[in-house]
This record gives sequence, structure tokens and C-alpha cells, in this order.
Amino acid sequence: MKRKIVIGNWKMNPVTLEEARRIFRYTKNLAGKFRRTSVVVCPPFVYLSTFLARKSESPVIIGAQDVYFEEFGPHTGEISAPMLRDLGVTHVIVGHSERRAKGDTDEVISKKVLSLLEVGIHPILCVGEKERDQHGTYLDVLKNQIRDSLNKIPKKHADKLIMAYEPLWAIGAKDAVDPATICEMSIFVKKVLSDIFGHDEAISATILYGGAVNFRNAGDIIAKGQVDGLLVGRESVNTAGFGELLRAVDSL
Ligand code: PGA
Repeated sequence: MKRKIVIGNWKMNPVTLEEARRIFRYTKNLAGKFRRTSVVVCPPFVYLSTFLARKSESPVIIGAQDVYFEEFGPHTGEISAPMLRDLGVTHVIVGHSERRAKGDTDEVISKKVLSLLEVGIHPILCVGEKERDQHGTYLDVLKNQIRDSLNKIPKKHADKLIMAYEPLWAIGAKDAVDPATICEMSIFVKKVLSDIFGHDEAISATILYGGAVNFRNAGDIIAKGQVDGLLVGRESVNTAGFGELLRAVDSL
């Protein structure tokens, strides 16, 4: 059975290093007990080196929340893929809707994905429609997003890619998308991947769901939604809730 993967996107939380350490310690202690679930934590950049200090002993995989596509140079405020790799980061979220809202286009996202793959980091590529309509236009929106972000990616890198389907209307919302719809959308994402990379790459692709995931709905989303894992926002910095969520996922 494929190992499930739960990724915590802490976003711009928490405000202090002390609190960040507390949440991380709790998550790490739990993650060490799971045999069927990989746990990835994506904290703000400033906490990365603290969490990576004793990486070899940690059962938690450390990811970042974004990257810039150039290697180095006059890009004030940016951080490159080689820098993250040097630190020991193995996973990076790209194309999150909150970054897209700040200007990341599919073209920029495509460059970011490539820069990560070239240094051996797993990109966690977020895709998702803003809204739904009755004519299925949202499917075209999603298809174009995926194609435009991946059409310059060599097929040999396809197995490193992690896709996260996160419709904007579910992010930060009260309720997640229902599992049946998640299942349909994950098949759709695989179909688009198959057109880009080929059948085998699409079948083995890792597809996650994100948007209003919590300890109550996590198990059902994986079991009925047929996804390989979850991208979790708010619940990932709520220690008690995240603990329950991880237990629910690992017991499937
Ligand atoms: P949420 O965020 O779990 O708080 O809805 C998900 C995300 O933005 O990845």
C-alpha cells in the first residue's frame, strides 16, 4: 500500500519561535508513531533551520511554503531552490492560491517547479478553480492551470511531483469539498497528467486534497475521496486537532 502523506501548511503562523517549537515538538512526537503516514511540516522560512537542525533523527519531513526560480542574484527578499536544498528542505509548496493572489502566474509557477526539480526537491503544486459554474468551465480552468504549470517539465521528473487539488472556495472555508467530488477531481487531475506525461506517470502520481480539512473529515476524504493525502492549513497549527487528524489518517 502507498504511504499516505499529510502536509501541514502553517502559512504565516505562529508569531513566536517558542510557539513554533511547541507545535513542532508535538507534531514530531506523534509522527514518530505512524507507520503508514508521512508527515510534512511547512513552516515560515524563519523557522526552517531550527527544525532542520537535527533532521536525521526527526520523523517529520520539512518543507517550505514557496521558492523563487532564479538561483541567486539581485532578487531582494527571495529564496532560491539551491538555498533550500542546502538547508535540507525536501518539499516545497508552489502555486498556492494565496501566492497566486499576490501575482504568481502559471508561467512563474512553471519556472518555480522546474527550479525545484532540478535540485531534487519535491514540488507540491497547488491547483484549483476559483469558482464553479454549471457549464463545466471550471474543468477547463483547472486543465489549463495544470498544463501551463507543467508543460515545460521533463517527463523524467514526473515521479517527484506532488499535486494538491485545492479549490479556492474551500480554502479557509467552513466545510471541505465532499469526498465524491474530490474523487472525481482527482481522476480529472490524473487524466490531465496522463495527457502531459503519459499513462503510467499519471497512475502513479501523488494527488492530495486541500481546503478546510480537519480531524473530523480527514479520514473520509482519504478513504472515499481516493486521494493519497492531504494539504492542511488551519488544523496543522492546532496541535490537538492535527494530532487527531494524523491518527485518523494513519488508522485507515
Ligand atoms: P485550510 O487551508 O485548511 O485552512 O482551509 C488550506 C490551504 O490553504 O492549504
